Amino acid sequence: MSHHLTRFGVAVPENLLSKFDRLIKEKGYGNRSKALCDLIRQKIVEQDWNLSDKETVGTITIVYNHSFREIADTLNHLQHHYYSQIISNLHVHLDLHNCLEVLVVKGKVKNIKKISDRLMATKGVKQASLCMAGTGKEL
Ligand code: NI
Repeated sequence: MSHHLTRFGVAVPENLLSKFDRLIKEKGYGNRSKALCDLIRQKIVEQDWNLSDKETVGTITIVYNHSFREIADTLNHLQHHYYSQIISNLHVHLDLHNCLEVLVVKGKVKNIKKISDRLMATKGVKQASLCMAGTGKEL
């Protein structure tokens, strides 16, 4: 990836720009350039997640009650089934019953979404979310 910088002029409605400036100040950006680059990168990553054969990475976070044996077994089975896509995981015992698990997934968008859907649909999973990240290679 080239890191050569290009300057370009953009015409933006005044009120939109002042809102943007307020927003990026709140978020701690030192200047507009980094904020704008981040927005563009975010859009590119979002777009990539619409391409089913695109190779990418992400994380799936799930919260469940481990006391129900069935859930723990199903989750374990699913993770073994998709061992080539689930490249790492983190398990945190939140309290006596609840567990939080973060799975790092790598592979085609369609496969990652399938794993995420199956985990979310597992009976007893209280909460699940997919964080659609990117490999960073093309950004
Ligand atoms: Ni646990």
